[in-house]
Amino acid sequence: MMSMAFVILAVLASECSSSKESNGIVFAKVRVNMTNDMSQHTLTIHCKSDDDDLGEHALSYGQSFHWHFKIDYFLRTLFTCDMWWNDSSGKLVKGNYDIYQATRDWKRCRRYCSFPIRVDGVYGFMRETQTFVLVYPWPK
Ligand SMILES: *[C@@H]1O[C@H](CO)[C@@H](O)[C@H](O)[C@H]1NC(C)=O
Ligand SMILES: *[C@@H]1O[C@H](CO)[C@@H](O)[C@H](O)[C@H]1NC(C)=O
Repeated sequence: MMSMAFVILAVLASECSSSKESNGIVFAKVRVNMTNDMSQHTLTIHCKSDDDDLGEHALSYGQSFHWHFKIDYFLRTLFTCDMWWNDSSGKLVKGNYDIYQATRDWKRCRRYCSFPIRVDGVYGFMRETQTFVLVYPWPK
């Protein structure tokens, strides 16, 4: 019994000391900001989680839609977004993507996650390299 308890304590202690990377993630307040970066096109987005439907928003060039939330205790926080726009030939381009997923995106962008949306796809800001990377190309 004693040794079992000791092992559990030891594991807990080592998890605490080795988890600097994830310190503060539970209940952290995060902001996600999606921006239409397509000068010729209006983008419509509709984001939701299990708990919240953020509604449909039409963004013209340069316009943004942002929201805040707290990461849930079990790190299940997930927002998915439907996005669509018409290309120059009038063809509908659309996708549905996991835009914010707590376990992945806490590393990627911490408390402020910025997504410029361009003609080749959805870009996401990477904290480690301080660059925008194409994370979801539009379907062909
Ligand atoms: C969202 O991003 C756009 C483009 O970078 C920026 O102009 C705007 O200030 C941001 N809004 C918020 C609330 O972060
Ligand atoms: C975009 O394309 C769809 C499908 O072709 C069409 O029904 C819709 O009217 C178009 N929307 C705009 C804003 O042009």
